[in-house]
Amino acid sequence: AAAEKGGYDTFMEKEIHEQPHAVGDTLLGRTDEAGHLVLDELRISEEQLKAVDRITIVACGTAAYAGMVAKYAIEHWTRIPVEVALAHEFRYCDPIVSERTLVVSISQSGETMDTLMAVKHARDLGALTVSVCNTHGSTIPRESDAVLYTHAGPEIAVASTKAFLAQITACYVLGLYLAQLRGGSYADDAHAVLKELQEVPDKIEKLLGDLDRVREIARFMADTRSVLFLGRHVGYPVAMEGALKLKELAYIHAEGFAAGELKHGPIALIEPGQPVFIVVPGPDTPHGLHGKVVSNIQEIRARGARTLVIAQEGDTAVEPFADEILRVPATSPMLAPLLTVVPLQVFALELSTAKGLDVDQPRNLAKSVTVE
Ligand code: G6P
Repeated sequence: AAAEKGGYDTFMEKEIHEQPHAVGDTLLGRTDEAGHLVLDELRISEEQLKAVDRITIVACGTAAYAGMVAKYAIEHWTRIPVEVALAHEFRYCDPIVSERTLVVSISQSGETMDTLMAVKHARDLGALTVSVCNTHGSTIPRESDAVLYTHAGPEIAVASTKAFLAQITACYVLGLYLAQLRGGSYADDAHAVLKELQEVPDKIEKLLGDLDRVREIARFMADTRSVLFLGRHVGYPVAMEGALKLKELAYIHAEGFAAGELKHGPIALIEPGQPVFIVVPGPDTPHGLHGKVVSNIQEIRARGARTLVIAQEGDTAVEPFADEILRVPATSPMLAPLLTVVPLQVFALELSTAKGLDVDQPRNLAKSVTVE
């Protein structure tokens, strides 16, 4: 079993370290010599894809958070409206779907019953269905019009890590491909983003070598009873995912919030010593979002929160208000989730280990939920 884990103590740790490959392999072979995306494997005609006027993403759990990240990116790059629905809600909410709707399901296993039923329902309503999936020959891709495989390799640990990064990457690829099909400045912008995306695996590799501090923090926090996570824009689903990892692995009450929502309720939870992770957008994020999140850190720190700040290298504005700063390599705002989630994965892993829990097989959870 030790050999299967490649020298790591747990599958989760191994899979976290495989993330540069999960992203790199999901990009591999999907561009031509000129650096344009080629997705013949999709098997949906360019005409049909160009006619798409609405996208609905269906997924559960971590895959749904990948979908939330994808919404920001695909809408920005294509100007096609994107909605994200939990698969088990989608079917029962009388969804608005036409033959020009692209329903994108995201599933690591390809066997999640809730997601499968959502796909079947979408197809019955006449939608075009694409499966973003990590498992060849599984049920959801077979029941879909097309598939875009993530190439994360088998994921054994129940809590998803490398599949999440691969799902986000595949959704970026899909969004950039749709932008490329739109042509003009959409295509030019997509080309530039794709180039930057190709640099992300090296950045993840560098980040993975730089996580000693977050491990230490986690070990000191083994008795903590509640942790909050704040994020904004694409950092919002990252905050949700950070909270989910902690619930799944360490059985600690954890909640992710949109940072802008803080003043509308959650700030009441802040009392002296309350640990709060804040996923800070890069300083060049549009609309001054960086400054707004820095103000949030200031506000909760003034009320006694222990601020654990995830910020880009070189972001000095966070320094006065951070109890701890966890640095991630700089990247453009839309791609940041591929980096900012990594310290949160490692935090949950390490805290679970410190509590003596089974990291790979948390209680009450299944890797793939094949019942409704
Ligand atoms: C289960 C797992 C989660 C996973 C979710 C969706 O609940 O415990 O880690 O995110 O299913 O799984 P899928 O295979 O559809 O991505």
